[in-house]
Formats: sequence, C-alpha cells, structure tokens
Amino acid sequence: MTTAQVDPAVHPAAHPAWLPEAAFAPLGSRRIAVEIAEREWSRLEAEVAATVRAEVEAAVATHGGAVVTPDDAPDLVLAVIAHNDRDAEAFTVARTNGVTRVTAATPRGLLYGLFHVVRLGEAAFEHGDLDVERHAPATSLRMLDHWDNIVVHPAMGQVERGYSGGSIFYDDGVVREDLSRVAQYARLLAASGINRVAINNVNVGPLETRLIDDLLPDVVRIADVFRPYGITTHVSVSWASPVRLRGLPTSDPFSPEVRQWWAGAADRVWAAIPDFGGFVIKADSEGQPGPFAYGRTHADGANMLAAAVAPHGGLIHWRAFVYNHEQDWRDRKTDRAKAAFQHFAPYDGTFADNVIVQIKHGPLDFQVREATSPAIAAMPNTRVAAEFQVTTEYLGHQKHAVYLGRQWSELLSFPYWGEGSATMADIAVGRGPGGHAGGFAAVSNVGDDVFWTGHPFSQANLYAWGRLTWDPTADPIAILDEWTGLTFPGAPAEVRSTIHTILDESWETYEMYTAPLGVCFMVYPHTHYGPSPDGYEYTPWGTYHFADRDGVGVDRTVATGTGYTAQYPEPWSSVYESVETCPDELVLFFHHVPYTHVLHSGKTVIQHVYDTHFDGLERVRSSIAAWEAAAGEFPADLAARVTDRFAEQLRSTTDWRDIINTYFLRKSGIPDAQGRTIY
Ligand code: GCU
Repeated sequence: MTTAQVDPAVHPAAHPAWLPEAAFAPLGSRRIAVEIAEREWSRLEAEVAATVRAEVEAAVATHGGAVVTPDDAPDLVLAVIAHNDRDAEAFTVARTNGVTRVTAATPRGLLYGLFHVVRLGEAAFEHGDLDVERHAPATSLRMLDHWDNIVVHPAMGQVERGYSGGSIFYDDGVVREDLSRVAQYARLLAASGINRVAINNVNVGPLETRLIDDLLPDVVRIADVFRPYGITTHVSVSWASPVRLRGLPTSDPFSPEVRQWWAGAADRVWAAIPDFGGFVIKADSEGQPGPFAYGRTHADGANMLAAAVAPHGGLIHWRAFVYNHEQDWRDRKTDRAKAAFQHFAPYDGTFADNVIVQIKHGPLDFQVREATSPAIAAMPNTRVAAEFQVTTEYLGHQKHAVYLGRQWSELLSFPYWGEGSATMADIAVGRGPGGHAGGFAAVSNVGDDVFWTGHPFSQANLYAWGRLTWDPTADPIAILDEWTGLTFPGAPAEVRSTIHTILDESWETYEMYTAPLGVCFMVYPHTHYGPSPDGYEYTPWGTYHFADRDGVGVDRTVATGTGYTAQYPEPWSSVYESVETCPDELVLFFHHVPYTHVLHSGKTVIQHVYDTHFDGLERVRSSIAAWEAAAGEFPADLAARVTDRFAEQLRSTTDWRDIINTYFLRKSGIPDAQGRTIY
C-alpha cells in the first residue's frame, strides 16, 4: 500500500515525516523504467516488487513524469538483474549517457535503491557519467522494538515509555482494524533502512501473551502490512506462556512438555506467517518470569526457545537486561552496572546459532551519559545485538528537543580494545573478534500522534536510527541535514540553520543541564522525567551518586570500589580505574571524588556542575530564540507544536538548573565562583 491508498478520512493529519510528496518531485518528474525479471520470488520479494512499481507510479502521477519501457529513453532505470551480490538488500547506482541506473539482485534491494534516489533528489540526475557505486547495509538485523501494550496498562499506558500518544497497532484492548498508519510507518521505516519490527512490549501481559495463540490472526494482519516494505515481524513472548496459555504446571526449559509446547507454538506461528522473524524475550528481568525459577540458566532458556524456532529459520532475541531490582541501598557491594556481564559472559559460546543476546549500550539503562557496556565485548562466541532507545525515556520524553545521532554515533564507534580496534558497531555486525553478527535493536518512539513522535523534531531520531543501522559509520550531522532536506523540501536556508542551532549539539546540552559527569538517574522515579537528585538513591533499584558533604560519585574501581572496571578489556580497564586517566564526562560514573577534585578541563567538579547548569539553560534559550526567529518558515501546525514543546522544555530546564545546583550547594557548602543565584 502506498500513502496514496491511505484513507485520508481516517487519518486526516498524519504528518508525512521524511516522505512528503514534494520530496518525490525530482524522481516523479522523470521517465522511469522498472525492470523486474519474472522469477519464483518469495512472497516477501513479490510484494516488495509490487511496492516498487506502485511507488514509481504514484510519484510520476503526482509529478508529471512517466513510466516507460527500457527502450523508450528513460532517465532512470530501476532493475532487478541477475547479480552475484550475495547481500539481498544491496543495490548499485551508476550514471551513463544521461541515464541513472539502479540495480539490485532482489526487489528489496531495489526498494532501498529507489529511496536512495529520493534522498539524492536532483543530484541523482545532474551529473555526467558516474561509476558504479555499491550500497549495502552493515547488517541484515536492523530492528525496532515497540513497547506497545494491547491493553492500556494502569501505570504505563498504551505504550510503555511512549511519548507520542497511543499505539499505532492497538487501541485499548484490541488490535486496530484500520492499520493504515502502520502502512505509512512501514514505508517511512523502509525509507530509513529498518527491516525488522517487534510489535509488542517486552513486559508481556496476559492478553499480549495470546499474540502467539488465539490473537495470531491479528499478527498475521500486521505482518501483511509490513511485508510489502521488506519488513519482518517479530513478537515479544512471555516465558510463562505454556503456563498462562495451556495451564501447564511449569515452564521449566528442561521439561519435555514445555519443549513440545513451544515447538507446537512455533509451528503454528510460522504456518500462519511463513516469513515471521522470531521471538523477543525479557526473562528474569524486573519481575518477568524466566528460567531462574527452575534453577536453569539464561542459556538453557534461550536454547530451548531456539530449538523450537530453528526449523522455521526463526530468531530468538534474548535480552540481557538482567539485574537485581530488589537491592538494599545499605548494601555497598552490589553494583547494578556489573549485572549483564556477570549473568551472560560466563555462557559465551553456549548459545545456539539462532540466539541473539540483546545488550543495552550501557550497563545501566539508556542514560544520557554512561559508560559502554563491557558485556558487549565479553562474548566473542555469541551473536550480540546492541540495544538503544529511540524513545527518550531519560532524555526529555520528546518534550525537549534532543537529537540523539551524535550520542549513538559516539557509542557505536567506541573501540573496545583501544584506538583502532573493533568498535561496538563492529561487534554487532559481526566484525568483532569472534565474527558473530547480532545486529541492532532500539525501542521505537512512534505513536498515533499526528507528528508520529510528539515533538516533531524527534522524527529526526527515528530517521537517524534507521540510517545508522544501515551504516553505523555515517556522519550523524550529515544524517540530520538529510532528514531536514527530505522533511522540509525546498525550505529556505534559515530552516536548515535553525534546525542546526536547535538540534546539532542538543544531546550535549541535555547532558549539561541534567545529571553531571556520568552520575545517573537523578530523575523522578517511575516517570523518569524531571530532576529528583535523590529520587533513586535509597530505592531497591540501585544507588547512583552517593553524594554527601565531601564528595560525589560511585566508586567502581577494583582498588577501592565495586570492581566493575575489571569487566573492561585493556586499555579501558586501566583508563577507567585511575581517576587521573578517566575521561571527565565519566568521572562520577567510575569514581567518588571530593567536590574540589580538579577535572582535566581545569575546573573543579562543583564549579563544573554550576557552570554546565547555568550554560545549559542559556543554550536552550538560544535554541528558543533561533526557533522564534524562524518559526514562520515552518508549517503552522508543526510550528505550534514545537513552540508548545519549547515552553515546557524551558520550564523543565529551569527546574533542572535550580534543583541540581541547589542540591549540590547544600551538600557541599561551596559557593559558585561567579556568585550567580543558587537557591
Ligand atoms: C527500563 C524501563 C522499563 C523497561 C525496561 C526494559 O527499566 O524503565 O520501562 O521495561 O527498561 O528495558 O526492559
């Protein structure tokens, strides 16, 4: 289905995001030949082939071009040809004698090639001859996870950690009849590079457990909507499914009945959806059931599920977000940061080939600044996926303008064994020491909001996630420009420069006015929005700063602390162990230091806290000034929404500045060197 087929009466205002009609003008005004050889295509490829044709037809119908035969002087040829490219999603682009030619081995490759031409715009047709350029994704595992609930959860709502309205899939208790927003979403995702979607929350409730049972026909409907855009559907399952659904007395992975039950469930799912992706599972994590109850390990659990789905070519995404969430704050030895490594690294090499261990990028929980997860580098004989959050649970709930491209890029390029060594992205795509690929997964930020993402500028994060999964080495600011160009085609130069002023360094700005120097979780418990310096300090979820009158930070050293630094390979283990070499931005993540400790920047810790909080608010004010000057250049409804969000961001940032500064002044008794107002 193309956007042309979406019923405007049902969804009058869904914003076109990075696929407005105008972005297709350079392509749609051309003479285009589509050649897709008749072959025994799989259903997926056959449907994607139809999509390519429909996209081209819709574009030329709107912009005055024509669909022609290859002999009829085309400007653009889109061809699936016999190719020896082994990557089914790859495509090539070349230009000879005034004809731009995109070729691929499959319709999926061609679809990505088509969107590549849309991104290039006029540039795709302007040049003289251009040599063949090959484009291929870094990995075939480019995924988005939806934390959507079918039924509205009393505390978490329809979408857990969702800041964009309701779910595009579910409407209080049922799977939506009208999935046209899902179709639009699939198209947006394909145009950014995503090829897998898990459709429900990892915290699986009783109703959601039934998605692999009597609600399977609804999953079939959703998979049917994703398939034409080359997107594979996955479902989150509950470890307790055999108990919940069939009343078995156990879900012990070693029980023959349990194994048989899962094999039967997998047979049913794949019979209904032959190209289904697999199961995502959160087990023994934050109260979710898992194999621990039966004295079994995560490897035992994952391998049992893997055996059930293996005959169908299915995958198990087994999440490594396992830690003790019932900690006693008096216990200074337990360190949540150590948990994923402790639980998973010992089992490296024992997971089945179709298990992907999905590990959050940091050892805690998607904080604005935390170290990279050492567990990601500790499993060379396992397929490891790096997990991120596109939704901004800890980064302002899509009320603050925060572009995450830079953060992701920095994390993805982190060299685990020192300069020039394999990076986080290398490990995920199978170029790490063991060569096993697990790919990328992230929590989606999309809802049924007209702008998809609450803050219209948060669309840039969704776009950037897709583009970075395709090429993790891409420049995040070039991606931002690309997003701006597509989303606001033909916009005046002010639009681009305004977006830069607002978003370019917005991750750093957010870090400045929130928790300093790698201190984590200074947010309100549960909601994770707004400043609450001691909100988590004495809760069972872990202790994050230990601030007292003398100093602040978590001592995670081997010498005197929790010993967490030993989980890193060299050189990082030593770099982080010593306060002399630890990078400033992580100093309080790894060390407990006096407020008068002097950073590499030359400032004391306390003065750094004050300065960044005053400066952070100023940066937000500058963004608002830039916005106000250019708001008139943007569509009115979008401008109104952004203006609204900025009002809240200013209020919230002021809160952050004053509460954090006041907290540290009261703790330390050390005044601001510049004598600014602290309450
Ligand atoms: C965080 C988040 C939860 C989520 C969990 C997870 O703790 O706050 O809402 O369920 O991560 O990743 O499973």
